[in-house]
Amino acid sequence: MDREQLLYEGKAKKIFRTDDPEVVRVKYKDDATAFNGEKKGSISGKGELNNRISAFIFEYLGKQGIPHHFVRFLSPKEQLVKHVTILPVEVVVRNRAAGSIVKRLGLQEGQSFPRPVVEFYYKNDDLGDPLINEDHVAFLDLASQEQIRGMRQMALKVNRLLTALMIEKGVDLIDFKLEFGVDQEGKLLLADEISPDTCRFWDHQTGQKLDKDRFRRDLGEVEHAYQEIWNRLGGEKHV
Ligand code: C5P
Repeated sequence: MDREQLLYEGKAKKIFRTDDPEVVRVKYKDDATAFNGEKKGSISGKGELNNRISAFIFEYLGKQGIPHHFVRFLSPKEQLVKHVTILPVEVVVRNRAAGSIVKRLGLQEGQSFPRPVVEFYYKNDDLGDPLINEDHVAFLDLASQEQIRGMRQMALKVNRLLTALMIEKGVDLIDFKLEFGVDQEGKLLLADEISPDTCRFWDHQTGQKLDKDRFRRDLGEVEHAYQEIWNRLGGEKHV
């Protein structure tokens, strides 16, 4: 039955049609990829933890006025979301230097930015998701001026809200990636997922990495890190 309903399969999730054309079912996978698919693996328990963490964060952001696609939790690995058209732009917000910006600009890992750095990437596997600016977004016709403004504003608001949520749990939000969708009425909604796959989380006291960098950089204890984030958010023990 799942096969007939499959709309799309990504690296970490499968999207299924439902009886209601306005909503789709998302199933989170344990599969993990990094470096544009060059590194592949599986993290046991990741699908369930990311489903729970993402649902929790979207509900929190929704209560604070961020319009989003999340509808409801369905089962340990599944959630229901609004059917949106995803804009082919990834929006990254950085509070401290880590990952690609360290290499690109020769920075020190962990260095704080005086104000958050917002970046746009063109979601295009063949091109390896290149970094682009707002003029590129416009001439490639990836989003309208109003959508670009909306994505930037919402990304900065999510940064403020998520930083505040995580610091209460003893976690520093280093950076994260967001995706946006447009619903049937043309409204811009925060979409995709927010989880340790898409954020860098460092323990405030020790600086320990509690995110996908443990997989990317073979640091070990990957599942433990995802579980730790869920525990800090008040979740139940998973294993
Ligand atoms: O790799 P980079 O340093 O540019 O990543 C910035 C942030 O965006 C990180 O939190 C990373 O997990 C996230 N990201 C993502 N999906 C991508 C690229 C980056 O979730 N395709």
